[in-house]
Amino acid sequence: MESRYKSFRYVESLSEFIDQQVTLRGWVYNITGKGKLQFIMLRDGTGIVQCVVFKNNVGEEIFQQTKELTQESSVSITGKVVSSEKAPGGIEIDVTNLEVIHIAKEYPITPKEHGDAFLIEHRHLWLRSSRQNAIMRVRAAVMKAIRDFFDGNGFKLLDSPILTPNACEGTSTLFETKYFDLGSAYLSQSGQLYAEASALALGKVYTFGPAFRAEKSKTRKHLTEFWMVEPEMAFFDLNDDMDLAEDLVEYIVQFTLKTCKKELEVLERDIRPLEKVKRPFYRMSYTEAVEWLVSNKIPLVQKIDGKDVESEFPWGEDFGAVQEEAIMEQFDKPLIIHRYPTDIKAFYMKRDPDNPKVVLAMDMLGPEKAGEIIGGSQREDNFDLLLDRILNENLPEEEFKWYLDLRKYGSVPHSGFGLGVERVVKWITGAAHIRETIPFPRMIYRITP
Ligand code: 4AD
Ligand code: MG
Repeated sequence: MESRYKSFRYVESLSEFIDQQVTLRGWVYNITGKGKLQFIMLRDGTGIVQCVVFKNNVGEEIFQQTKELTQESSVSITGKVVSSEKAPGGIEIDVTNLEVIHIAKEYPITPKEHGDAFLIEHRHLWLRSSRQNAIMRVRAAVMKAIRDFFDGNGFKLLDSPILTPNACEGTSTLFETKYFDLGSAYLSQSGQLYAEASALALGKVYTFGPAFRAEKSKTRKHLTEFWMVEPEMAFFDLNDDMDLAEDLVEYIVQFTLKTCKKELEVLERDIRPLEKVKRPFYRMSYTEAVEWLVSNKIPLVQKIDGKDVESEFPWGEDFGAVQEEAIMEQFDKPLIIHRYPTDIKAFYMKRDPDNPKVVLAMDMLGPEKAGEIIGGSQREDNFDLLLDRILNENLPEEEFKWYLDLRKYGSVPHSGFGLGVERVVKWITGAAHIRETIPFPRMIYRITP
């Protein structure tokens, strides 16, 4: 790439240019100085390097301009790359020329501590800070690992539509929009139903895009718009599905450890727990998980008349963060919980032939309080049983006609899952809140910037 854009270099490649003259372009991260010296910390998105401006080397006029630089002013700097033990990163630039591109107005984000509300309000600028830069680079690595994993394992990328006529993950969390003369359309909660059609056409597919949930959840793990990758495989049963989920998560974590050493250092992430993320992970059934909760006296807490009421955790209830975190405390690697009660899971999941009270579903929980990172299942492939569930949930049969067709023409066992990108990035980076793991987060109380 760089050969065609030779006019300037990037900070990340400076070690290849020791003792050579280079031009860098970027922004002033910080500037200090005294007497005939100014030290500019220059950031260009790929890294930060110290640039030393010595009055005798640049002359009176440029030295004066340097002294007037403000935080985030944009500049073009030319100088010699020298290795220096004193400089942060071991490299600095002996500046011979400096051109001011733009003098920044007083920058609102300074090195002092800012409150969360202030930072999120200034997300368009906050992205420039070292921590956010590192999180975004990890995010890019996670996305690349996902694509590489599937492309390298015979999967075809077939994207599902965003505008859809029906719900996939329950009707209570839908964003609705007018759609010409055809009534309402909804922003997709999941590409799965279409991925099933694609899998029956191409065998192994994945869809990778944004998903939307009009959920009233204000937790540190919920966005209203998030990115999900959803593989779907013909002829895979639940076990195959769980094996694939383990392979994918191991690949993502190990790829990120290998390619994002610097970023994880900036984030001060202890990487030892991540290094352990290798197959096999742990597995237990929902029923075993409930037994564990009961014998370890982790109760169900319900709000009744505004008061918290505790009771022994009953079989059939969904796990909340409290139960998930308690269970995960024993585990240093992800855990897959499988075979959840039919009543708390989606209509498309296949009932277990050995016990119709449960479905062939699985959730993967991450260690270190990562929470649910994957949800998936084997799909109901029997026409009558699926229709039964659609009617039971009061879903519009007409809108699901095409989906039922998949059970009419060469129906086969098939499975898939969805992995939430931001949940994984939060876990790997150790970010305090999911809003830091996507460039411009969408949450119930925020749609700007
Ligand atoms: O468990 P979910 O709802 O499963 C599905 O949507 C299935 N249709 C997927 C499939 O089988 N193809 O969501 C899957 C994952 C969750 O495990 C979580 O990682 C993430 O998507 N996720 C969210 N991430 C951020 N904010 C939210 N509001 C999320 N809801 C789900
Ligand atoms: Mg789920």
